[in-house]
Amino acid sequence: MARSVTEWVTITDDISIIARESGEVWFHTSSGTKEGLDPFATPMTGVGSAGSTVGLLDGALNLGFVGIEKRLARPDPTLVGYIVALVGAYHTSVDTPRNLQRAASRFNELRRPEVAAYLEERACEETGHDRLALKDLRALGLSAERLVANFIPEGIKPLCKRFDDLCVQDYPIGCIGYSYCLERIAALKQRTDVEKVQAMCPDGVDATRFLRSHSGLGSEVTHVEETIEFVASLPANDRIRIVQETYESALIMAEGYNHELLKSEAEMLEELQQAVGEALPYRLSSHPSHGEKRGARPAA
Ligand SMILES: [Fe+2]
Ligand SMILES: [Fe+2]
Repeated sequence: MARSVTEWVTITDDISIIARESGEVWFHTSSGTKEGLDPFATPMTGVGSAGSTVGLLDGALNLGFVGIEKRLARPDPTLVGYIVALVGAYHTSVDTPRNLQRAASRFNELRRPEVAAYLEERACEETGHDRLALKDLRALGLSAERLVANFIPEGIKPLCKRFDDLCVQDYPIGCIGYSYCLERIAALKQRTDVEKVQAMCPDGVDATRFLRSHSGLGSEVTHVEETIEFVASLPANDRIRIVQETYESALIMAEGYNHELLKSEAEMLEELQQAVGEALPYRLSSHPSHGEKRGARPAA
């Protein structure tokens, strides 16, 4: 009988994630083992499997999100917060095809055609997603182009920079970890999340194109499944770097969430109005704009 696959990756100085093909995952602290006796101190070299690879990837995500403010993790959405999230969604989508193509070219140079082909396919699939966010903003009566040209939410900037940096590295495998992080989080959104947003929108307005496609209802679920299969097929060194980058991207994303979520609706409204240079076209919330209500959802 073939032996079941076990994979492990060291994430921080002290923490490794260990995952089995059966789906079991645990976090291992090296400080709890005697020096020289830690079996997971040596990087893994064996083959991957979908069951253990997803355990590592999701373990890395969970570890990265430990620092997110729990009380703010799933706030009630507000229309102002949703508009900020759509602007963020535009910025995290607009350069994705070009960035992935650049990483693909590098893998062609490195004679890794299977990685290049995977990235090229992803670049194709992601093409046009920025336009979904623009259409949603337009549907809400906003000057979409002006808004995204003049405004990038503070919490989103480091995330965009991270992806840009990863895709121009000499060995840009980390971009797969970054993409996994964003897509996996998006795929957690359910029909009820979409319905909540629809209920906030003015009658007859469809402003959930981006959200639907980047949720458990859209293509994101397949993207996540395909990525897991692909990562599992890669050599151990690549899997290690992808899992480590998933963690780093999750840390950056969690920090961005905290930053945006701590803003009041009034602060967000002010930022949006400054960007478009005019008052927004209708009352955005049933709450007073100077109220204490918080509630951006940074990734639409
Ligand atoms: Fe997308
Ligand atoms: Fe996607």
